[in-house]
Amino acid sequence: MVETVGVLVISYGARETAIVDALKRSTNYNVEVYVADKQRNPFNVKNASKHAVISDLNVEEICKFAEANKDKIDFGIVGPEKPIIDGIRDVIEKRVGIPMICPTKKYAIEASKVQQRLLFQESVPEVNPRFRIFNSKDYRTMEEAKKALYKWLDELENKAVVKPDKPAAGKGVGVWGDHFTTREQLFEHFWDALRYGEVIVEEKIEGEESSFQAFCDGKHLVPLPETRDYKRAFDEDRGPNTGGMGSYKDVGEVLPFMTKLDREKEIVIVNKIFEKLKTSDNQALRGIPFYVAFMHTGKEPKILENNSRPGDPEIMNVLPILKEDFVDVCFKMIEGNLTRVELEKAATVVTYKVPPNYGGYAEAFPERVNKAEIDKPVDLTKAYDLSKKYGEKIRVYPASMELRGNEVYALKSRAVCVVGVGESIDTARKISLEGVNAIKGGALWHRTDIASKEHITKSIRHMEALRKRR
Ligand code: GLY
Repeated sequence: MVETVGVLVISYGARETAIVDALKRSTNYNVEVYVADKQRNPFNVKNASKHAVISDLNVEEICKFAEANKDKIDFGIVGPEKPIIDGIRDVIEKRVGIPMICPTKKYAIEASKVQQRLLFQESVPEVNPRFRIFNSKDYRTMEEAKKALYKWLDELENKAVVKPDKPAAGKGVGVWGDHFTTREQLFEHFWDALRYGEVIVEEKIEGEESSFQAFCDGKHLVPLPETRDYKRAFDEDRGPNTGGMGSYKDVGEVLPFMTKLDREKEIVIVNKIFEKLKTSDNQALRGIPFYVAFMHTGKEPKILENNSRPGDPEIMNVLPILKEDFVDVCFKMIEGNLTRVELEKAATVVTYKVPPNYGGYAEAFPERVNKAEIDKPVDLTKAYDLSKKYGEKIRVYPASMELRGNEVYALKSRAVCVVGVGESIDTARKISLEGVNAIKGGALWHRTDIASKEHITKSIRHMEALRKRR
């Protein structure tokens, strides 16, 4: 008889829908999921044995939900950063006794950009761009702070990135040339952020970005294939930064603009950070404690930031092509014996569909928004029907969507994504686009150039030019 396994899933959006999907596809176990969710996500509601909406994902409420179902739950898995940073693993493991897949609070290094830079400085300093940490306590007046900042900007020739220490503290990350073009604008951003805590001002790095993710059981780091995220809202990388409008993965481990050596260097770098952080309590680094945004410069790679969780959308490029049973992968992460995972040799492309106000679209392109459709239900059936044509090669993952009665509505954030799987990036892209085009209603829109030949060729050319500058 097949063993029944209960899994607690802490869910924010499509990343966790993909986790639920990977768990429910288990063939070795009969999986029951208990979802603590940000909203009534239609996919999760349908698949969960129990589903609870905890809209702010606060640790106390999640813990109560876990406690109420603890006899049925074997382990938990966490996608979003907030509960991880707030210490969900420590609290549930201590109070409820359920092993959790995510780092402990102390090892969730996503919590502080300053601590990350200092950690890299100790373990692998060459990945840091030139940076300086500013603290309001060091300055008696605004003028004094401005003088110190401008002196640093002289050294950086103004090409700077302003990063508040804490995620979402005051203003977010600001970039020279994108968010400000004058020192006065940069100072305004900096000064606003400084009221909330320390601020890093670092050199703006030119290059091509890739996302590195690795499963970790506390003892071993198991690198997952490289992916490319599309952060900007609009085609041709225009518009404001978003959570990520889509992503792609090539058939193998590296991206078309990277070399094998680039990838090997990344693995060496992340292992050095891992070795530095590992302690006798080495189970603390469980889950995906290293989801690293690398910038490839043509010389040595630099790290933009590290997150302590799976990437959204990047993990959707990986989970659908796992060859192994994801429940076994999870058990191995908990037991400390995950040394490798096998994936299909396939390319994957994720495209998100988002509501009209997301990423400032309605304001930038009012003529493109079908006003009659705003706030109307979204019809996913035709996208799901495509699985009759493509089988396992298409996945539709609702994110910021709510089930009301029998109808599904888009909320404010990224609404739904479609993953295409193929023998080439182009095939995977076609499936993903066919899927998003089949989703009707709600005035949703998407980027049309995710993983396009033009976009990828541009990245390849850019890297060739950067390598020549060596
Ligand atoms: N893809 C961006 C993020 O997960 O933070």
